[in-house]
Amino acid sequence: MSATAKKSAPLPDDIRARKGGEPLVSLTAYTTPMAQLMDAHCDFVLVGDSVGMVLHGLPSTLGVTMEMMILHGQAVSRGLSQSMMVIDMPFGSYEESPEQAFRNAARLMRETGAAAVKLEGGVEMAPTIAFLVKRGVPVMAHIGLTPQSINTLGGYKVQGRGAAGEALMADARAVTDAGAFCVVLEKVPEVLANAITQDVDIPTIGIGASADCDGQILVVDDMLGLFTAFKAKFVKRFANLGEGAEAGIAAYAAEVRARSFPASEHVFGDTAPETK
Ligand code: KIV
Repeated sequence: MSATAKKSAPLPDDIRARKGGEPLVSLTAYTTPMAQLMDAHCDFVLVGDSVGMVLHGLPSTLGVTMEMMILHGQAVSRGLSQSMMVIDMPFGSYEESPEQAFRNAARLMRETGAAAVKLEGGVEMAPTIAFLVKRGVPVMAHIGLTPQSINTLGGYKVQGRGAAGEALMADARAVTDAGAFCVVLEKVPEVLANAITQDVDIPTIGIGASADCDGQILVVDDMLGLFTAFKAKFVKRFANLGEGAEAGIAAYAAEVRARSFPASEHVFGDTAPETK
């Protein structure tokens, strides 16, 4: 995909059809300006529940609500025209029953314009994925490290090492058979990510997985150096915007204290012609 040629947003089936082709590019976004910046460069943009940690200062994604997802989903959708929007189902909005999942998925899609939802879980969520897909809700699955389950997974650990790899392969097959159009593999050994990518016929999207996945995703604030509370091994900083922002804020504070800002070009005379 060229970053300059204008394209129309793909649909979930277009993403599925990219299996084994040119790598799929995706990032998270939570606001209109950031969505606008990535629109021409990404195949799909995820309104991730990572918004809770990245923008709201929550200690995990568990406190994220439907209302937060809808607000950020609406903001992101205003910034996208070329990239497909996927939205995370927050913790507690889908696990209880397929009916609960459908109700909340439909609300997320209706109120934000998202083309698909993402939910966490493998074998145990397969019946829910099948229920949603049969009723018109495209589902992106998310297996491996599923951050909404950190309290049962024992923290942010690599998943699927050694014998546990078989269970993760079973998860990948189950979500594929249930009709997910692609599957995020988070924090799994490279060799397992490659085996899953070879095995399933839907695209795998890696985050802390393998360069040989069918696509990659990162949290935008991580890869731009805006979120600096911690950095996972799988994050590469492609820019250091946080440092630049802090330097700018410090320079502003110094100029205000020295009364050198605002300067003459920033203030208004009391006669016309007036400038904005
Ligand atoms: O919420 C999130 O940001 C995610 C990741 C896969 C990027 O789920």
